[in-house]
Amino acid sequence: MNAFKLSIFLALCSFAASLNNPDSSTLPRPLIVENPQSLLGRVVDVEHGSGEEDLRMHCQSWRFGVETNNIRSWKTVPVECADYVKNYMMKRGYVYDLEMVAKEAGNYARTVQLVGDGNDIWIFDIDETLLSNLPYYVDHGFGLEVFDGSKFDKWVELGSAPALQASLKFYKEILDLGFKVFLLTGRSEEQRGVTEENLRRSGIERWDRLILRGKGDHGKPAIAYKSERRVQIEEEGFRIRGNSGDQWSDLLGLCMANRSFKLPNPMYYID
Ligand SMILES: *[C@@H]1O[C@H](CO)[C@@H](O)[C@H](O)[C@H]1NC(C)=O
Repeated sequence: MNAFKLSIFLALCSFAASLNNPDSSTLPRPLIVENPQSLLGRVVDVEHGSGEEDLRMHCQSWRFGVETNNIRSWKTVPVECADYVKNYMMKRGYVYDLEMVAKEAGNYARTVQLVGDGNDIWIFDIDETLLSNLPYYVDHGFGLEVFDGSKFDKWVELGSAPALQASLKFYKEILDLGFKVFLLTGRSEEQRGVTEENLRRSGIERWDRLILRGKGDHGKPAIAYKSERRVQIEEEGFRIRGNSGDQWSDLLGLCMANRSFKLPNPMYYID
Protein backbone atom coordinates (compact mmCIF):
# COMPACT_ATOMS: atom_id res chain seq x y z
CA MET A 1 0.00 0.00 0.00
CA ASN A 2 2.67 2.50 1.00
CA ALA A 3 4.87 1.41 -1.84
CA PHE A 4 1.95 1.82 -4.19
CA LYS A 5 1.18 5.30 -2.91
CA LEU A 6 4.81 6.21 -3.18
CA SER A 7 5.04 5.05 -6.77
CA ILE A 8 1.99 7.13 -7.70
CA PHE A 9 3.55 10.10 -5.96
CA LEU A 10 6.81 9.64 -7.79
CA ALA A 11 4.99 9.19 -11.08
CA LEU A 12 3.09 12.45 -10.52
CA CYS A 13 6.26 14.23 -9.50
CA SER A 14 8.19 13.10 -12.54
CA PHE A 15 5.27 14.06 -14.75
CA ALA A 16 5.09 17.51 -13.15
CA ALA A 17 8.84 17.92 -13.58
CA SER A 18 8.60 17.00 -17.23
CA LEU A 19 6.13 19.84 -17.79
CA ASN A 20 8.83 22.33 -16.77
CA ASN A 21 11.48 20.60 -18.76
CA PRO A 22 12.14 22.15 -22.18
CA ASP A 23 13.14 18.72 -23.48
CA SER A 24 9.92 17.13 -22.31
CA SER A 25 8.77 16.63 -25.91
CA THR A 26 11.29 13.84 -26.16
CA LEU A 27 9.79 12.05 -23.19
CA PRO A 28 6.97 9.60 -23.56
CA ARG A 29 3.76 11.40 -22.77
CA PRO A 30 0.15 10.33 -22.46
CA LEU A 31 -1.74 10.49 -25.75
CA ILE A 32 -4.09 13.03 -24.30
CA VAL A 33 -1.34 15.66 -24.40
CA GLU A 34 -0.51 15.00 -28.04
CA ASN A 35 -3.61 16.60 -29.43
CA PRO A 36 -5.06 19.08 -26.96
CA GLN A 37 -7.11 20.74 -29.68
CA SER A 38 -9.42 17.74 -29.90
CA LEU A 39 -10.32 18.15 -26.24
CA LEU A 40 -10.67 21.90 -25.95
CA GLY A 41 -14.07 23.44 -25.71
CA ARG A 42 -15.86 20.13 -25.59
CA VAL A 43 -18.63 19.99 -23.08
CA VAL A 44 -20.87 17.05 -22.51
CA ASP A 45 -24.28 18.53 -22.98
CA VAL A 46 -26.69 15.82 -22.07
CA GLU A 47 -29.84 17.86 -22.32
CA HIS A 48 -29.14 18.92 -25.85
CA GLY A 49 -28.05 15.44 -26.79
CA SER A 50 -24.46 15.13 -27.89
CA GLY A 51 -24.74 11.52 -28.80
CA GLU A 52 -24.97 8.13 -27.20
CA GLU A 53 -21.23 7.85 -26.66
CA ASP A 54 -21.08 11.10 -24.69
CA LEU A 55 -24.04 10.12 -22.58
CA ARG A 56 -22.37 6.81 -21.81
CA MET A 57 -19.16 8.57 -20.82
CA HIS A 58 -21.07 11.09 -18.73
CA CYS A 59 -22.78 8.28 -16.83
CA GLN A 60 -19.50 6.42 -16.51
CA SER A 61 -18.03 9.55 -14.92
CA TRP A 62 -20.98 9.74 -12.60
CA ARG A 63 -20.46 6.12 -11.60
CA PHE A 64 -16.76 6.73 -11.09
CA GLY A 65 -17.62 9.66 -8.82
CA VAL A 66 -20.05 7.49 -6.91
CA GLU A 67 -17.70 4.56 -6.45
CA THR A 68 -14.81 6.74 -5.36
CA ASN A 69 -17.02 8.59 -2.86
CA ASN A 70 -16.39 11.88 -4.64
CA ILE A 71 -20.13 12.18 -5.09
CA ARG A 72 -21.86 11.75 -1.74
CA SER A 73 -25.30 11.63 -0.21
CA TRP A 74 -27.02 11.31 -3.56
CA LYS A 75 -30.66 10.31 -3.42
CA THR A 76 -31.35 8.83 -6.83
CA VAL A 77 -29.59 7.82 -10.02
CA PRO A 78 -29.55 10.80 -12.44
CA VAL A 79 -32.51 10.50 -14.80
CA GLU A 80 -30.34 10.49 -17.92
CA CYS A 81 -28.31 7.56 -16.52
CA ALA A 82 -31.28 5.28 -15.84
CA ASP A 83 -30.55 3.05 -18.84
CA TYR A 84 -26.83 3.09 -18.19
CA VAL A 85 -27.27 1.86 -14.61
CA LYS A 86 -29.83 -0.71 -15.69
CA ASN A 87 -27.45 -2.09 -18.33
CA TYR A 88 -24.57 -2.10 -15.87
CA MET A 89 -26.58 -4.02 -13.30
CA MET A 90 -28.24 -6.46 -15.68
CA LYS A 91 -25.46 -7.18 -18.15
CA ARG A 92 -21.96 -8.31 -17.27
CA GLY A 93 -20.52 -5.06 -15.90
CA TYR A 94 -21.70 -5.52 -12.35
CA VAL A 95 -20.62 -9.15 -12.23
CA TYR A 96 -17.17 -8.35 -13.62
CA ASP A 97 -16.67 -5.65 -11.00
CA LEU A 98 -17.82 -7.95 -8.19
CA GLU A 99 -15.45 -10.65 -9.39
CA MET A 100 -12.55 -8.20 -9.48
CA VAL A 101 -13.21 -7.05 -5.92
CA ALA A 102 -13.46 -10.65 -4.70
CA LYS A 103 -10.28 -11.60 -6.50
CA GLU A 104 -8.27 -8.74 -5.02
CA ALA A 105 -9.71 -9.30 -1.57
CA GLY A 106 -8.78 -12.97 -1.87
CA ASN A 107 -5.24 -12.08 -2.96
CA TYR A 108 -4.88 -9.90 0.13
CA ALA A 109 -6.57 -12.33 2.52
CA ARG A 110 -4.18 -15.11 1.56
CA THR A 111 -1.23 -12.91 2.57
CA VAL A 112 -2.57 -12.21 6.06
CA GLN A 113 -0.69 -14.14 8.71
CA LEU A 114 -3.29 -15.23 11.22
CA VAL A 115 -2.11 -15.07 14.81
CA GLY A 116 -3.93 -18.30 15.54
CA ASP A 117 -5.75 -17.15 18.67
CA GLY A 118 -9.07 -16.94 16.83
CA ASN A 119 -9.12 -13.15 16.99
CA ASP A 120 -8.45 -12.37 13.34
CA ILE A 121 -11.75 -11.40 11.79
CA TRP A 122 -13.22 -10.34 8.49
CA ILE A 123 -16.27 -8.10 8.50
CA PHE A 124 -18.93 -8.37 5.83
CA ASP A 125 -21.83 -6.08 5.23
CA ILE A 126 -24.94 -7.94 4.05
CA ASP A 127 -27.06 -6.03 1.52
CA GLU A 128 -25.36 -5.68 -1.87
CA THR A 129 -22.31 -7.30 -0.32
CA LEU A 130 -23.26 -10.90 0.46
CA LEU A 131 -26.91 -10.77 -0.54
CA SER A 132 -28.33 -9.06 -3.59
CA ASN A 133 -31.49 -7.00 -3.58
CA LEU A 134 -31.38 -6.74 -7.34
CA PRO A 135 -34.77 -8.49 -7.72
CA TYR A 136 -36.26 -5.64 -5.68
CA TYR A 137 -34.46 -2.95 -7.64
CA VAL A 138 -35.53 -4.48 -10.96
CA ASP A 139 -39.05 -3.54 -9.90
CA HIS A 140 -38.03 -0.14 -8.57
CA GLY A 141 -36.08 1.47 -11.37
CA PHE A 142 -32.53 0.45 -10.34
CA GLY A 143 -32.22 3.40 -7.99
CA LEU A 144 -34.17 5.87 -10.12
CA GLU A 145 -36.96 5.92 -7.54
CA VAL A 146 -36.44 7.58 -4.17
CA PHE A 147 -35.78 4.87 -1.58
CA ASP A 148 -38.96 3.71 0.14
CA GLY A 149 -38.07 2.08 3.45
CA SER A 150 -41.40 0.39 4.06
CA LYS A 151 -41.56 -1.17 0.57
CA PHE A 152 -37.99 -2.32 0.95
CA ASP A 153 -38.69 -3.85 4.37
CA LYS A 154 -41.50 -5.89 2.81
CA TRP A 155 -39.01 -7.29 0.34
CA VAL A 156 -36.55 -8.05 3.16
CA GLU A 157 -39.31 -9.90 5.03
CA LEU A 158 -39.60 -12.33 2.10
CA GLY A 159 -36.10 -13.53 2.91
CA SER A 160 -35.44 -14.40 -0.71
CA ALA A 161 -32.46 -12.23 -1.62
CA PRO A 162 -29.97 -14.35 -3.57
CA ALA A 163 -26.27 -14.43 -2.77
CA LEU A 164 -23.83 -12.52 -4.95
CA GLN A 165 -21.88 -15.44 -6.36
CA ALA A 166 -18.42 -13.83 -6.30
CA SER A 167 -18.95 -12.76 -2.68
CA LEU A 168 -20.23 -16.18 -1.68
CA LYS A 169 -17.13 -17.82 -3.05
CA PHE A 170 -14.90 -15.26 -1.33
CA TYR A 171 -16.77 -15.65 1.97
CA LYS A 172 -16.18 -19.40 1.86
CA GLU A 173 -12.52 -18.81 1.17
CA ILE A 174 -12.30 -16.49 4.18
CA LEU A 175 -13.74 -19.21 6.40
CA ASP A 176 -11.37 -21.78 4.94
CA LEU A 177 -8.42 -19.49 5.62
CA GLY A 178 -9.42 -19.47 9.30
CA PHE A 179 -10.76 -15.96 9.77
CA LYS A 180 -13.75 -15.40 11.99
CA VAL A 181 -16.63 -13.88 10.06
CA PHE A 182 -18.60 -11.01 11.56
CA LEU A 183 -21.62 -9.74 9.70
CA LEU A 184 -22.30 -6.07 10.37
CA THR A 185 -25.49 -4.85 8.79
CA GLY A 186 -27.72 -1.80 8.82
CA ARG A 187 -30.72 -4.11 9.06
CA SER A 188 -32.56 -3.93 12.35
CA GLU A 189 -32.63 -6.44 15.18
CA GLU A 190 -36.29 -7.18 14.33
CA GLN A 191 -35.07 -8.56 11.03
CA ARG A 192 -32.64 -11.00 12.62
CA GLY A 193 -34.78 -14.08 12.07
CA VAL A 194 -35.57 -13.46 8.44
CA THR A 195 -32.00 -12.35 7.78
CA GLU A 196 -30.58 -15.57 9.22
CA GLU A 197 -33.03 -17.65 7.18
CA ASN A 198 -32.20 -15.71 4.05
CA LEU A 199 -28.46 -16.09 4.58
CA ARG A 200 -28.72 -19.84 5.11
CA ARG A 201 -31.01 -20.28 2.15
CA SER A 202 -28.46 -18.48 -0.02
CA GLY A 203 -25.54 -20.63 1.10
CA ILE A 204 -24.12 -18.39 3.82
CA GLU A 205 -24.37 -20.88 6.62
CA ARG A 206 -21.69 -19.94 9.11
CA TRP A 207 -20.77 -16.77 10.88
CA ASP A 208 -19.35 -15.98 14.27
CA ARG A 209 -21.46 -12.91 14.90
CA LEU A 210 -24.38 -11.20 13.25
CA ILE A 211 -24.64 -7.58 14.34
CA LEU A 212 -27.83 -5.67 13.55
CA ARG A 213 -29.08 -2.23 14.55
CA GLY A 214 -30.50 -2.33 18.04
CA LYS A 215 -33.04 0.04 19.57
CA GLY A 216 -30.41 2.64 20.37
CA ASP A 217 -29.06 2.61 16.82
CA HIS A 218 -32.14 3.74 14.94
CA GLY A 219 -31.68 7.07 13.26
CA LYS A 220 -27.91 6.90 13.59
CA PRO A 221 -25.97 7.41 10.38
CA ALA A 222 -24.57 4.08 9.26
CA ILE A 223 -21.01 5.36 9.49
CA ALA A 224 -21.50 6.17 13.20
CA TYR A 225 -23.33 2.94 14.00
CA LYS A 226 -20.78 0.75 12.22
CA SER A 227 -17.83 2.65 13.68
CA GLU A 228 -19.16 2.19 17.20
CA ARG A 229 -19.55 -1.51 16.64
CA ARG A 230 -16.05 -1.84 15.24
CA VAL A 231 -14.69 0.02 18.29
CA GLN A 232 -16.44 -2.51 20.55
CA ILE A 233 -15.12 -5.39 18.47
CA GLU A 234 -11.55 -4.16 18.78
CA GLU A 235 -12.00 -3.48 22.48
CA GLU A 236 -12.88 -7.16 22.83
CA GLY A 237 -9.48 -7.97 21.39
CA PHE A 238 -10.39 -8.85 17.82
CA ARG A 239 -8.25 -7.70 14.92
CA ILE A 240 -10.22 -6.50 11.94
CA ARG A 241 -8.04 -7.70 9.11
CA GLY A 242 -10.50 -7.05 6.32
CA ASN A 243 -13.85 -5.44 5.66
CA SER A 244 -16.12 -5.83 2.64
CA GLY A 245 -18.98 -3.48 1.92
CA ASP A 246 -20.81 -1.77 -0.92
CA GLN A 247 -21.07 1.55 0.96
CA TRP A 248 -18.26 3.78 2.09
CA SER A 249 -20.15 4.04 5.39
CA ASP A 250 -19.45 0.32 5.82
CA LEU A 251 -15.74 0.94 5.56
CA LEU A 252 -14.80 4.43 6.80
CA GLY A 253 -14.81 5.86 10.31
CA LEU A 254 -13.26 4.48 13.47
CA CYS A 255 -11.30 1.25 13.78
CA MET A 256 -11.10 0.73 10.07
CA ALA A 257 -9.96 -2.65 8.88
CA ASN A 258 -6.39 -3.21 7.76
CA ARG A 259 -7.81 -3.43 4.26
CA SER A 260 -11.25 -2.36 3.11
CA PHE A 261 -12.86 -3.63 -0.08
CA LYS A 262 -15.52 -1.53 -1.76
CA LEU A 263 -18.05 -3.47 -3.78
CA PRO A 264 -19.87 -1.66 -6.57
CA ASN A 265 -23.26 -0.11 -6.00
CA PRO A 266 -24.57 2.59 -8.34
CA MET A 267 -28.18 2.21 -7.12
CA TYR A 268 -28.18 3.86 -3.71
CA TYR A 269 -26.04 5.72 -1.20
CA ILE A 270 -26.12 5.35 2.58
CA ASP A 271 -24.50 8.00 4.76
C1 LIG B 1 -3.86 -3.55 11.31
O1 LIG B 1 -4.56 -2.52 11.94
C2 LIG B 1 -4.23 -2.35 13.31
C3 LIG B 1 -5.19 -1.36 13.90
O2 LIG B 1 -5.27 -0.20 13.10
C4 LIG B 1 -2.78 -1.95 13.45
O3 LIG B 1 -2.42 -1.81 14.79
C5 LIG B 1 -1.94 -3.04 12.80
O4 LIG B 1 -0.58 -2.63 12.82
C6 LIG B 1 -2.36 -3.30 11.37
N1 LIG B 1 -1.65 -4.45 10.88
C7 LIG B 1 -1.06 -4.46 9.72
C8 LIG B 1 -0.38 -5.73 9.35
O5 LIG B 1 -1.07 -3.50 8.96
